[in-house]
Amino acid sequence: MKEGLTALPALIDPHVHFRTPGATYKEDWISGAKAAIQSGVTTVFDMPNNTPSCTTLQELQNKHALIQNQLEEAGIPLRYHLYFGADRRHYREIPKVKDYAIGIKIFMGCSTGDLLIDDMASLNEIFKMAADHDMLISVHAEDEPTIQQNKKKFVDVQDPLIHSKIRSRQAAALAVEKALNLAEKHRARLCILHVGSKEELSLIRAAKAAGITVYAETSPHHLFLVVDDYLKWGNLVQVNPPLREKEDQDALWEAIRDGTIDYLGTDHAPHTLEEKKLPYGKAPSGLPSIELLLPLLLHAVNQKKIDLNTLVKITRKNIETIFRLPPNDDLVLIDLNRIREVQDEGLKTKCGWSPYRGRVLQGWPVCTIIQGRVFHLDDTHKGIHV
Ligand code: DOR
Ligand code: ZN
Repeated sequence: MKEGLTALPALIDPHVHFRTPGATYKEDWISGAKAAIQSGVTTVFDMPNNTPSCTTLQELQNKHALIQNQLEEAGIPLRYHLYFGADRRHYREIPKVKDYAIGIKIFMGCSTGDLLIDDMASLNEIFKMAADHDMLISVHAEDEPTIQQNKKKFVDVQDPLIHSKIRSRQAAALAVEKALNLAEKHRARLCILHVGSKEELSLIRAAKAAGITVYAETSPHHLFLVVDDYLKWGNLVQVNPPLREKEDQDALWEAIRDGTIDYLGTDHAPHTLEEKKLPYGKAPSGLPSIELLLPLLLHAVNQKKIDLNTLVKITRKNIETIFRLPPNDDLVLIDLNRIREVQDEGLKTKCGWSPYRGRVLQGWPVCTIIQGRVFHLDDTHKGIHV
């Protein structure tokens, strides 16, 4: 081992959109796996909003076969699990997919793809079935009627900032409240994905205190970007749920430290630069982040925002516990002193850009060990070693 390196348990990213099947021009499991190990990630959970959506046992099996081929071609034994997408026509397949899916994803508000469950009758049935079959439910919690009402207020406005007003904090809080009530009623196990606002945090804190089985995820863009970043990046940082204020970001860091936030998921959602540069309303939501996850977090460790123990909890240990994963020996070696500038050149993601370009970060992974295979990481980011 090189001097000055620290070994950490490899990371799990429980929230990625690797675009197979249907949009492999943005990402596939060859580019996705390469990007993952750059961040010391050796396990990912892939979301179901593909084309076609992953809403049946058959689709899950088809997707699994495609992924296996791509990973073999990549030569990277990435560990992975797939989410089952809830839609009105197929949620009765839940008993069939129990042993094939890591959980059930519900989009309570529309996003990329056509998955959406916004009526109480279906939500009740899905929560009940999930609880009966001991499956975990993960919700994209934004209230669709509120989003649609807000959209009417801003027709013809093209400033990307309105994205955070249309997909308001009230829309997020309303959906979180609804999901928590359903979890309590049906005694379901619930994850609230990509929590971004202090209102959501208050609701989750109260629910945990009341004994509801709820876990909270937040994402790097909520920890490292805020609404002011629209000025520099425009629609490139348009994401669902959207960026919030600095005070929300501070509350999220506090919630990581006090355990209200259980784990991180990147929500790695690659779209091409051409697509992201379209005007507001036409540009898709989502941004790539998986290969910067660990450098961003190590930089935060160097800034004393969190310690290494907490980093390991929120990127590995808590996820293993919540999703009942078997243990493994995968590792990542990190150099906490290495300083590099993030550049687009050399990124492994197929979309080839990063909203963190230009940041100078201290703390980089140098080697990922997955299923006994050692991958020395590219050192393409510019900078100096101190
Ligand atoms: O911004 C987002 N992009 N949010 C989602 O929920 C989906 C994701 C995507 O797949 O592009
Ligand atoms: Zn997502």
